[in-house]
Amino acid sequence: MLTSTVNITSKLPHVGTTIFTIMSGLANECKAINLSQGFPNFAVSPALIELINKSMCDGMNQYSPMPGLITLREAIAKKTLLRFGAQYNPETEITITSGGTQALFTAIMATVSKGDEVIIFDPAYDSYAPAVELAGGVPIHIALMPPNFNIDWNEVQQTISTQTRMIIINNPGNPSSQVLTKDDMIALQKITDGTNIIVLSDEVYEHIIFDGQQHQSVSMFPQLAARSLVVYSFGKTFHATGWKMGYILGPQMLMTEFRKVHQFNVFSANTPIQAALSVFLSDENNYNYLEKFFAQKRDYFASMLLSSRFKILPCCGSYFQLLDYSAITTEHDKDYAIRMTKENGVASIPVSAFYKNGTDNKLLRFCFAKDDATLQAAAERLCKI
Ligand SMILES: Cc1ncc(COP(=O)(O)O)c(C=O)c1O
Repeated sequence: MLTSTVNITSKLPHVGTTIFTIMSGLANECKAINLSQGFPNFAVSPALIELINKSMCDGMNQYSPMPGLITLREAIAKKTLLRFGAQYNPETEITITSGGTQALFTAIMATVSKGDEVIIFDPAYDSYAPAVELAGGVPIHIALMPPNFNIDWNEVQQTISTQTRMIIINNPGNPSSQVLTKDDMIALQKITDGTNIIVLSDEVYEHIIFDGQQHQSVSMFPQLAARSLVVYSFGKTFHATGWKMGYILGPQMLMTEFRKVHQFNVFSANTPIQAALSVFLSDENNYNYLEKFFAQKRDYFASMLLSSRFKILPCCGSYFQLLDYSAITTEHDKDYAIRMTKENGVASIPVSAFYKNGTDNKLLRFCFAKDDATLQAAAERLCKI
């Protein structure tokens, strides 16, 4: 082992190993069923793999243009028009990224400056606040509470100050699994009207939305779209989180700034996968089945837990089910998640990890993007508790 001879001041002094790494590590160690991290355990479409293979064999193995292959940007423009009635220019308003997280990070780096305030709704995906801090900004957290995690837009209005540079929304939400409605979007449009606030909309779970609801993308609301950067993930949509592929949409002025940072951050994303996605994305059938597919998984998992001592929270979108364990123990959620992994063999994520102030609502998050046998085995273990 090397002993470092230099001293550095940490840029993220409060950040340690993330709970995802801890819980997945523990799951492996204990040979537990891992429903902690948000990744599917079923296969990627063989047709998509075949297309990537072909792209590589055809020589698509060098840097793509910095904003991404134009064929893929055109396919995204078509998809966005079809789904949301929103027009984005593939030349200037769409950029391919190395996953949703890179898009979020680059968007924040490009637009948030020292002292800028960024409103984040907790429980929040864990990359938002550190990215804001690295950009010199100040995360301002608004805590949303179970079971519905509704946003009080009056509270948001009161939280906005002259320093507010950005509001980050996540729809459908991880870990809340809640979905923003048209009224939410109209309220957001109203309170940002006449301000200089950028909306960063994380829509990586756009296709995982249940019970006949329609995904309300910010891109569907022209006034909002004009101030928004919108983030998507091919990893989430095509069961391939390990590929780290995604994209971002936004008006030219914002996208120009985004690309200035993107070019020095990654320059460009994986070329053969982009080439394959250009073809694959053009067929709606490759994503239109997702709502039904994941609704079945949600319902399958929840139905098996009806006889358990857990309370099942409403799950409106995303592939996460929250379970309230307050009838079982008063332990802190992190302690209980660890004990459950060790003693009962099921790994989850304690929801307090998604709150800045560590609010413990006695909730654990379980990822149900798993094959039926895994969900059944996990549910059987949970029902024995
Ligand atoms: C809300 C949210 N945004 C972004 C991401 C990251 O997407 P990607 O894997 O494409 O970087 C995740 C992944 O878990 C997520 O849950």
